[in-house]
Amino acid sequence: MSAPPESLPLKPLLSVKGLKASYDESIILRGIDLEVPPNSVVALLGRNGVGKTSLLRSIMGLMPRTEGTIDYEGQTISELRSDQRARLGLGYVPQGRDIFPNLTVQENLDVSLSIAGKAGHARLEQVYALFPVIKEMLSRKGGVLSGGQQQQLAIGRALLTNPKLLILDEPTEGIQPSIIDQIEDAIHSLKKEGNLSIILVEQYLDFAKAASDTFYIMDRGSVVRSGKSEELTVEVIEKHLTV
Ligand SMILES: Nc1ncnc2c1ncn2[C@@H]1O[C@H](COP(=O)(O)OP(=O)(O)OP(=O)(O)O)[C@@H](O)[C@H]1O
Ligand SMILES: [Mg+2]
Repeated sequence: MSAPPESLPLKPLLSVKGLKASYDESIILRGIDLEVPPNSVVALLGRNGVGKTSLLRSIMGLMPRTEGTIDYEGQTISELRSDQRARLGLGYVPQGRDIFPNLTVQENLDVSLSIAGKAGHARLEQVYALFPVIKEMLSRKGGVLSGGQQQQLAIGRALLTNPKLLILDEPTEGIQPSIIDQIEDAIHSLKKEGNLSIILVEQYLDFAKAASDTFYIMDRGSVVRSGKSEELTVEVIEKHLTV
């Protein structure tokens, strides 16, 4: 007799196996295994320079891998170009403020809407609800927004493309606490809605723990610890994350 379906583990949305990547001579990713279940938030943690951004870039197809595979919704995507991966539903908000400073907020949104089409327009009201400041600032140039507002715009813009996997690289880096709270609320509310998983690279551990379901800790190109986020104890943090 085969086991009843409810006892089977959920098929992962994203599955990374044995991923290796290098910059020139130096090996940056040394065989990474990572799974993102559907409708879940995965925190990716680690000290500076351990390879977190490189892993995200590799998942997006922006950094070539030397070995390993990346499967998404049961399909191997590691041979696809980054624009093809984006079209399949991978949304990426890079580290730093990735908006067009000389375009207005409206024009920044239009860039995504032109790619996303009708579905993007349907999502616009939701993005305004998550980040009201975007709607208030539509006619302003992106570059005059505060760092936190630019980050909200970058996340909002990525959401307009209706990603199934949203990849956020240090969304709270260098922004003020009140906006960090808004970004945390946005992650909770997106999660509640379902249909979306998030990989969150984050240095604020309280935020990372509160926002995520599972975690991975990297050190020098390898995953050294992973588990459920409630297992992110002071002891684990001191061992792997405190500088
Ligand atoms: N374009 C590049 N060329 C060569 N080496 C690079 C390049 N980008 C990053 N590296 C190196 O690769 C390693 C991993 O960098 P990466 O940016 O992935 O780390 P990170 O964990 O995201 O760090 P941070 O927490 O500072 O953002 C570092 O040693 C870094 O110096
Ligand atoms: Mg980084």
